[in-house]
Amino acid sequence: VKAERFPVSGRRIILRAKPNGLPKAEDFACETAAVSEPGTGQILVRVDWLSIDGFMAGRLKDQANYAPGVGIGQTMQAFGVGRVVLSGTEHFTVGDYVYGPFGMCEWALMEASPEVKKLDPSLGPPRLHLGMLGISGWTAYVGLFNVGVVRPGETVLVSAAAGGVGAVAGQLAQIGGARAVGIVGSEEKVALATSKFGYAAAISRHDSDFSNRLSAACPNGIDVYFDNTGGAIYDNILDRMNIHGRIVVCGRMANAALADSRQDIGPRDHNDILVKRLRKQGFIVTDYSSDFDRITRTLAALRAEGRLVLPEDIAEGLPNAPGALVRLLRGENLGKQLVRIGTET
Ligand SMILES: NC(=O)c1ccc[n+]([C@@H]2O[C@H](COP(=O)([O-])OP(=O)(O)OC[C@H]3O[C@@H](n4cnc5c(N)ncnc54)[C@H](OP(=O)(O)O)[C@@H]3O)[C@@H](O)[C@H]2O)c1
Repeated sequence: VKAERFPVSGRRIILRAKPNGLPKAEDFACETAAVSEPGTGQILVRVDWLSIDGFMAGRLKDQANYAPGVGIGQTMQAFGVGRVVLSGTEHFTVGDYVYGPFGMCEWALMEASPEVKKLDPSLGPPRLHLGMLGISGWTAYVGLFNVGVVRPGETVLVSAAAGGVGAVAGQLAQIGGARAVGIVGSEEKVALATSKFGYAAAISRHDSDFSNRLSAACPNGIDVYFDNTGGAIYDNILDRMNIHGRIVVCGRMANAALADSRQDIGPRDHNDILVKRLRKQGFIVTDYSSDFDRITRTLAALRAEGRLVLPEDIAEGLPNAPGALVRLLRGENLGKQLVRIGTET
């Protein structure tokens, strides 16, 4: 199927230099490249929105990871939503809204693989599939319920609690009957987490009295720690874990500036894990992809009932995508960090 208009070139963001410490906008470049027409089994997507995610820092490192990294000169990886403008496969029609790993670019030539998913427009605006109804929502849901096995009445502590994943995690924990406590990076986010994201209490990780405030916020100890950051705060949390507690290792934001995330050494946790019979488990949300449709419908129903919100922090235009990543890695984003590429809402 052919669209009326075919672009011959489009902008993309490439990695110019491997970051030394935290990535900087200057580590990336915006260039214009030719866009090819899709062959058999391919589609061309006009990208409307990009998702900026914590995992991107790991893709810039040379160390082994669960997915391949980005090389110098390659398009920076990113998930996006957009519209099919040319299709060389019967699986997609021109005009379909799709979600996929399009990269930071205006036009994405994609194989029609299972990684590219057709969106159901009845669930809400397509960009929601990057946040609440997409990776942020899935990660919060899987981390809490599949990995953390959160039960009603338990105390769940979440780090980066006012970010994309953390904001949804607080609300889902509360809906699930647990008491959610958040760790955030500013007093502004403390207010947001407690007023909007279902947290009974929240503490800034920069608070000079962090340890005492954590004890006061968790009078019955911690049953599940949903860890988005790692770093020094982890050492405070081990002391307060309850017997049979679960530590859900979701992310490692505190290691973003380290060349090698394995350098993050604090007190060893064997003693607490043994004495308190803790379970500590990492997870990669895509391992649960067979459950994404069901989780998406659950999250969309909660949104329709007005029980789930996720504010969006929107950067305008593809050239600002690297800056949006830098903002997220500095903790300057409030809610889900997105980049608007096209004109779609
Ligand atoms: N395992 C998986 O499959 C999976 C899937 C998706 C996402 N994730 C992880 O989920 C986490 C949240 O991702 P997101 O995309 O929703 O990002 P996000 O929470 O919106 O943004 C990251 C947040 O991390 C915090 N942060 C930054 N630097 C930090 C530091 N040095 N120490 C402690 N906290 C720091 C900041 O919040 P504060 O300043 O408020 O602390 C920042 O807003 C990330 O770790 C990401 O890698 C994991």
